This record gives sequence, structure tokens and C-alpha cells, in this order.
Amino acid sequence: MEQEKTTSGNIIDFQVLKRLYQYVKPYSLVFYSLIVLTLLTAVLGPVKPYLVSFAIDDYVSVGNYLGLVKIINILIGLLVFQAIVQYAHTYLSGWLGQTIIKDIRVRLYRHILNLNLRFFDRTPIGRLVTRNVSDIETLSQVFSEGLAALAGDILQIVFILGLMFYMNWKLTLISLSTLPLLMFSTYIFKEKVKFAFNEVRNAVSNLNSFVQEHVTGMSIVQIFNSEEREYKKFKDINDEHRKANIRSVMYYSVYYPVAEVIQALGIGLLVWWGAKGIIQEDPAITLGNLIAFIMYIQMFFRPIRMIADRFNTLQMGIVSSSRIFKLLDSRDQIPNNGSYKPDHLTGDVEFKNVWFAYEERNYVLKDISFKVQPGKSLAIVGATGAGKSSIINLLNRFYDINRGHIYIDKKDIGEYELERLRENIGVVLQDVFLFSDSIEKNITLGNPDITREKIMEAAELVGARKFIERLPGGLNYDVKERGATLSVGQRQLISFIRAMVYDPKIIVLDEATSSVDTETEELIQSAIEKLMKGRTSIVIAHRLSTIQNADSIMVLDHGEIKEVGNHQKLLEKDGFYRQLYNMQYKEVI
Ligand code: GTP
Ligand code: MG
Repeated sequence: MEQEKTTSGNIIDFQVLKRLYQYVKPYSLVFYSLIVLTLLTAVLGPVKPYLVSFAIDDYVSVGNYLGLVKIINILIGLLVFQAIVQYAHTYLSGWLGQTIIKDIRVRLYRHILNLNLRFFDRTPIGRLVTRNVSDIETLSQVFSEGLAALAGDILQIVFILGLMFYMNWKLTLISLSTLPLLMFSTYIFKEKVKFAFNEVRNAVSNLNSFVQEHVTGMSIVQIFNSEEREYKKFKDINDEHRKANIRSVMYYSVYYPVAEVIQALGIGLLVWWGAKGIIQEDPAITLGNLIAFIMYIQMFFRPIRMIADRFNTLQMGIVSSSRIFKLLDSRDQIPNNGSYKPDHLTGDVEFKNVWFAYEERNYVLKDISFKVQPGKSLAIVGATGAGKSSIINLLNRFYDINRGHIYIDKKDIGEYELERLRENIGVVLQDVFLFSDSIEKNITLGNPDITREKIMEAAELVGARKFIERLPGGLNYDVKERGATLSVGQRQLISFIRAMVYDPKIIVLDEATSSVDTETEELIQSAIEKLMKGRTSIVIAHRLSTIQNADSIMVLDHGEIKEVGNHQKLLEKDGFYRQLYNMQYKEVI
């Protein structure tokens, strides 16, 4: 669990609160109504004991029945009013909190969607998920239980104290005499509980990641017969979880009775002193006063006990907010300031002295230059880690290059509008990622312009129509988590259709290395040929047939171009390509 302080180091970071207020602003009417309601709630409660004391002293003790009825009517009216105010307060604060979180969540997700891929290389996915889910959840508590409630509690305490002193200062001091004791025990309890909660949180997070990892990797667990070992590990983790929880429960089970005893002690002291005063006919103390004070003590201790909690909630909310704001402030986006929006491309691609590093100066592509004429194909071959996939990442600006130029139709790709650029480049990545949704949604990615006819047309073209029609439900077939229900080959075919429906002028294809059965292999091979036909294509080739048919082949090694030429020429040259060919492809024929 990472611990972060509020940025300014103050108890409450007002900078962050100010910024949160930006999100409240659109709903300022609700916000200000809430403030009024909070004020009303804080004031209405303490008025009741005052009225009771008034009723007892001025009407009950002198036998004024009509007057008593009047006061009771006022009290009933007050109770009804209070109930309505409370209802409105709870409802509106919930509404405001949830509405604001929704806004922030949407804003954050939108921000994440546009982040530079580099950012995701550096930031663990888990942390992003935490930001998006639990940090925002915590933040919501600033609204629902933090700020408004804290203000309400403080206000109520001040108001009660005022009324008490106004009614009888001696009784007030007696009532307050046990307060230090309560505050002290509350402080100790909070410290203990904070520690215990931290342990619980750690235990929960251990438990979660264990279950998640092992369910995902269940096949590995079973293949290697490690069920027993994993079971024992799980039992241990669970045991920790139980112990941590019990410890925190223990503190609660001690604290609440202790707090009750202290409160009872306060009431006892009050009754003793008050009753003594009444018996001795001290004019300053009346029965009504005494009863009202007993009610006040109960009313008074509750918010005091809560205040520390509220402070904690508020602080946690603020820490979460500042983390979310930090993420929102990260300006790590591919600059989209190009404005060139050609209606159609011819598909001329050129790399000119391109240098690229994922991390500072650790170049994975060094001085790469090549040209692909419109409609021609280039195959890139090379050992694993040579930098082949990286070339693809650059063409549609997943990453920006460090040095050099990339031109499409003789225009630097930075000058294109990003959306238009990517629309015109069909990409099939090495690992096909499918969302758990229907096949149709996986192909259109929610774009309503892509009709079912268009999909089936593309499917026909790449030769995947039959396979889709054979699936139960056809295009509606639900691809389960990460496409596990489809074979590797089938998933590739879907990704071909995905690239094809846009009818792009340029196609970049990172052939999967995994082998498939011969029938699917043929299907994929012919699909690739269809994909490449009439388009400028850059293919990272693992299949000999793809390579042989390519207009030109580029051999990449450690980020450098070693050889360029067609299959025949390169074989004759007896260099890198020949070597690679002998190692990787020869046995295929
Ligand atoms: P294969 O797909 O295995 O055939 O390799 P490839 O030729 O496609 O290599 P790729 O372009 O993926 O990687 C080239 C180099 O860049 C390797 O040294 C990788 O370790 C490195 N690399 C690839 N992707 C990333 C990334 O996202 N971040 C960082 N920091 N390095 C990366
Ligand atoms: Mg690769």
C-alpha cells in the first residue's frame, strides 16, 4: 500500500478542496441547498431539549395543561420538519456525491484513453485501475460523509455548547468534565484502529491478487500438480486476513463499552450534582434544566466521537483526490496538432533516418530508412527483439520518434490529423486482443458506421465467412474473456476483418509467430494475400510464403537494417538473410 501525504502537508489541503469545488460548480444550487440543510440539521436537534426543559419548568411544574399541549404541538411540528430536512439532506448529499464522482470518473477515463502508450509502459496497470475505481470511491466520501458532515458536527457542537452555557454554566462544566477522558480514549482507539485497518487492507489486497492470479493461471497450477501447495499458501493468506480482521474487531469491542461507561459517568455526575441542587432548592438549577442536560450529553458525545472519523475520511478523500488530479495533470499525450486531412491517400510510405527509443537513449531503431511505393509490399524479417514490431508502432504514431522523419504521401505523419492518419492505416498486431463482447462489437469497436453487411463483406474477402457462420449466433457469438473460447487462428481472422472494414490504403501486419493447423494456416495465408492486395503493406513476416511474395524484404538486426532486396537476390547474396533463412525457414519447405 503506497502512502502518500497531501501535497501541501497541511491537515487539510485547501488547494485540493478548491479544485474539487470546480466539479461542484455545475451543481451549485444543490450544493448551497445542502449547506442550508446542514445548518438546519445542526440547529434543529439541539432545540428539542431546550423546549423540553421549557415545558417542564414553565408548564408541567405549575400544572399548565394547555401550555404543555402547545409546546408538545411545537415539538411534533419540529420533529416532522426535522425528518423532512434529514431526508432531503441525505438524498441530496448522496445525489451530489454520486453525480460528481461520475463526472470525475468519466473525465479520468477520457484522459487515460488519450494517454501516450509510453505512459502505460511505465505505469503498472493495477495502479491505473486503483485510481479509477477505489480512489474515486474514496473521493466520493469527501462529499457523502466528509466535509458536509464534519461541518454539521462542528456546528452542532458549537450550538449545543452555546445553548448549554446559556441555560446553566455550572451544569455545563460538569457535563464537560468527562470529555477529556473520552477524547483520550478515542485518540488511543483511533491510533490502534488505523494500524489494524492498514493490516486488513494489506491482507485483503494479498488475498485478491492471490485469487486473481491463481484463477487466471489455474491451468498452470494443475499442470504442475501444485494444487496442494497453492492450497496451503491460500490457507496461510486467509489466516492472516482473519487475524487482521479480528484484531480490528477487538479494538471496536473494547472501545464502544468504554465510551458508553464514560458517557454514563458524565450523566451520573450531572444527575448527582443537579439533583443535589434541586433538593437544596438552588434557584439556578431546575428539573427541566437537568433533563435537558442529560439529553444534551448524549447528543454532544456522539459528534465528538465521530469527528476524528470524519477527519480521517476527509483526509483520505483528499489524498485520493490529489492522486487523481496528478494523473489528470499528466500531459503525457501524443500531440495531436496536425491538421492535414486528405480525402484519400495513395499510400506512399517513407522512413527517413529514423531513430527511436522506448526509454531514454536506449535505441531500438537506429537510422532506419526505407521506402514503400503505393500498392507495394515490404516484408520485415529479423530475430526476436530486432525491433520489427517497433516499426509498426511508429507508423501510426503510437509512439513519436526521437529523430528523423516518417512520411506518408510525402507528408510528415506529424502533420496529419491523428484520427485521419490512423483511419488510413489498418493494423493487425502480433497478439490479438479481443474484448469480452460479441464478435460484431469486437470488429466495429462500437463504430455505428460499420454495418453488418460491411463486416460480412470483409469476412468473405478474408475467407472467414464460413467460420463465423458456423459459430453459434454468428456475429453475435460472445467472445469470452480475452478470447479464450476462440482458437489462435480464429482470433487472427477476426483481427483481419477488424483491419479490413475500414478499407485502409496502408496495411501493417505483425504476423503471429504461433503455429496453427494446416487448414487454418492456408486460410490465414490467403487472407493475408487478400489484405495486401491493392494496398501498401508492411508485413512483419514469419511465413515463408508471405516473404517470398513480398516486393521487397528488409532484414533487421538489433535495430539496424542489414540487407534489403527480394527473396531471390537476398538468397544469392549469402548474408544475414541466407543465415536466417537456413535457421528458420528451410525445414518448412
Ligand atoms: P519479436 O516480436 O519477438 O519477433 O520481436 P520484434 O522484432 O518485434 O521486437 P520489438 O520491436 O517488439 O522490440 C525491440 C526492442 O524494444 C526489444 O529490445 C524490446 O525489449 C524493446 N521493447 C519493445 N516494446 C517495448 C516497450 O513497450 N517498452 C520498452 N521499454 N521496451 C520495449
Ligand atoms: Mg514483434
